[in-house]
Amino acid sequence: MTQKAGKTALVTGASRGIGAAIARRLAADGVLVAVHYGQRKSDAEETVAAIERAGGQAFPIRADLTDDDALDTLFSELEAGLAGRPLNILVNNAAVYADPDDPAAMQSDGYVAGISEITPAEFDRIFAVNVRGAFFVTQRSLPLLGDGGRIINISSAVTRIAWPLLPYAMSKGALDIMGPRLANELGQRGITVNTIAPGITDGTEANTWLHDMPGAVEGVSAMTALRRLGRPSDIADVVALLASDEARWVTGQLVDASGGMALAPTPPGM
Ligand SMILES: NC(=O)c1ccc[n+]([C@@H]2O[C@H](COP(=O)([O-])OP(=O)(O)OC[C@H]3O[C@@H](n4cnc5c(N)ncnc54)[C@H](OP(=O)(O)O)[C@@H]3O)[C@@H](O)[C@H]2O)c1
Repeated sequence: MTQKAGKTALVTGASRGIGAAIARRLAADGVLVAVHYGQRKSDAEETVAAIERAGGQAFPIRADLTDDDALDTLFSELEAGLAGRPLNILVNNAAVYADPDDPAAMQSDGYVAGISEITPAEFDRIFAVNVRGAFFVTQRSLPLLGDGGRIINISSAVTRIAWPLLPYAMSKGALDIMGPRLANELGQRGITVNTIAPGITDGTEANTWLHDMPGAVEGVSAMTALRRLGRPSDIADVVALLASDEARWVTGQLVDASGGMALAPTPPGM
């Protein structure tokens, strides 16, 4: 694959989980990575340290995506870190699902609440981070993005599969729409815009239930055509592919990276 050495990237929500894996993967390809995070400074610093230990380059940037003023800080720190270089790759990865500490958002058995329980405040928080945050980070990135740049949005297979995360799924549906529209608008600058839809991915805080619930690993693995859980590196490798020069002719696409989750209905009794 074509080397990305000398390129730059902003990965939102790169302190942990899939975002951290994306940051590490791009840095391993020689990309200077801005590791964005919301609250967890030490996790972001650990992502940067892991990149540096592997011989890569990265720097952390904090910005709460629900705070418009924080975007000013994000972009002034990004520009300082880029030191006059263009931004080549933007990965909109940061997202929230439902607040596990909010009883209105969660059911007593730990499942994410349905339409009857979700409060307007929780709905607004999900859209503020997942949709408004990604939209305005993209808007603010456009003047920095060099011609031939890459925008990659992380959506979810829940826009295809009915999983009990309704406002979250609706927020990811907005990203699915944003991809092709923006791709058409930015194509004249050679900028591609693509969307990746992961399935249930192990090694993320959202999915610790996989290891707490007996039979969950086997059950979820059986839902995929490839018969295993997803890993953060599975998603990071697809980001690296779409960010590469080889993917220059691919734009406006929604790429499912779920190992073929729920391609067929589950037979009765299984
Ligand atoms: N995990 C899965 O199975 C799965 C499946 C399908 C799609 N996805 C998608 O993949 C992406 C990564 O998921 P993940 O499970 O790896 O996420 P995660 O572990 O929950 O990490 C979320 C990231 O977003 C940041 N973030 C959250 N709220 C923020 C805010 N208000 N302002 C700024 N940053 C904020 C967090 O920063 P702090 O650490 O500082 O809080 C963290 O870096 C998301 O877009 C998610 O929807 C995940």
